[in-house]
Amino acid sequence: MNFSLKNILRPHILTLTPYASARDEYEGTEGVFLDANENPLGSITPEAYNRYPDPYQKELKKKIAGIKDVRPEQIFLGNGSDEAIDLLIRATCTPRTDKIILLPPTYGMYEVSASINDVPLVKVLLTPDFQIDLPATLQAIGEHPGAKLIFICSPNNPTGNCLRTNDIMQILDVFPGLVIVDEAYIDFSEEPSFAVRLDRFPNLVVLQTFSKAWGLASLRLGMAFSSPEIIAVLNKLKPPYNISGVTQQLVWKPP
Ligand SMILES: Cc1ncc(COP(=O)(O)O)c(C=O)c1O
Repeated sequence: MNFSLKNILRPHILTLTPYASARDEYEGTEGVFLDANENPLGSITPEAYNRYPDPYQKELKKKIAGIKDVRPEQIFLGNGSDEAIDLLIRATCTPRTDKIILLPPTYGMYEVSASINDVPLVKVLLTPDFQIDLPATLQAIGEHPGAKLIFICSPNNPTGNCLRTNDIMQILDVFPGLVIVDEAYIDFSEEPSFAVRLDRFPNLVVLQTFSKAWGLASLRLGMAFSSPEIIAVLNKLKPPYNISGVTQQLVWKPP
């Protein structure tokens, strides 16, 4: 499979000039920062929340890179992994034209996000033992060359089982769009993360979250691991300060 990011991004995303925030233009921590219209005197609360947070969460990414065994430039952080799901659809799928392949029963948000973005679905049911129906999935890939994304949830919500590694690898081998392996529940499983295969598959995106095993759902922190090129596209699309300063600090606060 010849994967080209250029072929799967929506044309206007390729040429998009992203918003340059005040924090993009000045990286220091000292000063008054009148350009961001922050209140230099402090906050209404005893804690100081008056400064905008780092838009690219550099310190946090260094720590996550250490525990997840990926490079910081392979990490996108979202307001929950739900934000990454929506951004991946918006980056790649032209409404009413491109398609997304789903393998139900699976996490409901893929379908909701696709509907919000007006992107049609191709559904291939899992087998009765909740594994990927590989022949049917490969057939759907062949029949729908306009499919830009396939979501594979493993361990799967709601069935709880892991999907077979070899089946996912065969899909990664042939699918010309992005294969999104959602590992929201990976910490509850013995299986290693697909993130170890990032350098081998340029079309792989792995989703993880701090909402489940880490018990931090309220902080809203989700992760996407992928090639630096794909991560750069997600960074270009996201709202500038999508991860609050409180979240960036609290996630690592010792108990
Ligand atoms: C499979 C799966 N992926 C992603 C999410 C979204 O998690 P969050 O947005 O809290 O990171 C959930 C939440 O239930 C989930 O079950």
